[in-house]
Amino acid sequence: MRRLIKHVLQSESACEDLLVAGWIRTRRDSKAFSFIELNDGTCLGNLQIVADVGIPGSEDLQRMATGASVEVRGRLIPSPAAGQKWEMQATSVKLLGEAPEDYPLQKKGHSQEFLRSIAHLRPRTNLYGAVFRMRSRMAYAVHRFFQERDFIYVHTPIITASDCEGAGEMFRVTTLPDDKISKDTEDFFGKRAFLTVSGQLEGETFACALSNIYTFGPTFRAENSNTSRHAAEFWMIEPEVAFCDLAGDMDLAEALVKFLVTEALERSEGDLAIFEKFVDKGLRERLEFVASRPFERIPYTEAVELLKASGRKFDYPVEYGLNLQSEHERWLTEEHFKKPVTVYDYPKEIKPFYMRLNDDGKTVTAMDVLVPGIGEIVGGSQREERLDVLLSNFAHHGLNPEAYGWYADLRKYGSVPHAGFGMGFERMLMFATGVSNIRDVIPFARTPGNCEF
Ligand code: 4AD
Ligand code: MG
Repeated sequence: MRRLIKHVLQSESACEDLLVAGWIRTRRDSKAFSFIELNDGTCLGNLQIVADVGIPGSEDLQRMATGASVEVRGRLIPSPAAGQKWEMQATSVKLLGEAPEDYPLQKKGHSQEFLRSIAHLRPRTNLYGAVFRMRSRMAYAVHRFFQERDFIYVHTPIITASDCEGAGEMFRVTTLPDDKISKDTEDFFGKRAFLTVSGQLEGETFACALSNIYTFGPTFRAENSNTSRHAAEFWMIEPEVAFCDLAGDMDLAEALVKFLVTEALERSEGDLAIFEKFVDKGLRERLEFVASRPFERIPYTEAVELLKASGRKFDYPVEYGLNLQSEHERWLTEEHFKKPVTVYDYPKEIKPFYMRLNDDGKTVTAMDVLVPGIGEIVGGSQREERLDVLLSNFAHHGLNPEAYGWYADLRKYGSVPHAGFGMGFERMLMFATGVSNIRDVIPFARTPGNCEF
């Protein structure tokens, strides 16, 4: 049976009959044999294979170039070479698929821009292999975090008619032909439908029945901002907790960030070394720091005061009532506090309809977790549980109360204080890997003007 190279490299003992398969990273020839570095993507490491001229299949050795796929049988033996425990002495080699000379991933380093243009091949590089293995482990860790705490995983719909964030950044879903595109009532659902920007509203209904829930799935935003931190399709983790206030919400968000950072450190299976080598020298140190120290917490109003008193020239103005821009978030985390910062109690004017109004009548129980190098990684709030306040919010935000009747019902029947947040999964991955562009932690990124593959 074929064995994964990851397991072979971790072997406890030599082995007489080994079968492996993968893609050739490099091949070096001498008169009597060839050295092949084989990688199957299961781990960072390559298995070194010695293939003697004369073994079955060796007539194809010259065609076993970088990128070609091969299957190899042989013996696993202790390696005399430094830096590797095992090597394989081949008894037969089989060329499965050739890779002609124009294979784009020859040994030399490529720019991330170029690699994005060959997103179908880049997982075969060390860096992207590591990124996508990390993505898989982190997704599993998200489920572990919540399942171990008795949160129930809810699948909220991808097609929806409600704009949770009220920002009008939704992709429309329609089956109408071009010449009938505005005839909403003739459309598939009898009204306008969109790809969801957040599963929160549906998630709230389940929290108000099952107590502690989370969603983890794709969300979509037709935000025309071509930044290194925004994608049109990204994954969001959205827990929602009944009988919970803003403080409990912040505790949960900070615990999740710390848990995932600890996972990245403790279960990286060698991949962290690649991130440190290629993208961020101080990565491990920063992750250890974040895992071990409390986050700073400050109200929005104080954050604005700090920014104003900083003496720093920002591109965007700092004023009570304006959104914090990424440059402001980064100043707070990178220069002032030098650690993650949770900012809470934002002015109600700049936040969506569902956030709970504070007693001051001016601010809502919003909170954002900001981290160095990225800015906002989590956004959440305690939800407005008072029916009358919610109804006046609908009016204030120009929302049709009938369309949100089901949402208001949660306040009408057995309303409870509840709170939740959304963590951008890709932003978390950027933080855990040091990769600075969101396009490089998504297998096939969707951004304005870009829908290849
Ligand atoms: O702050 P946001 O917009 O919050 C919500 O959608 C709430 N409904 C969540 C909730 O309370 N259940 O988005 C949450 C997080 C952000 O903090 C950010 O990490 C990420 O989602 N995010 C994006 N990530 C990548 N690309 C984009 N365009 C993103 N927009 C938001
Ligand atoms: Mg936000």
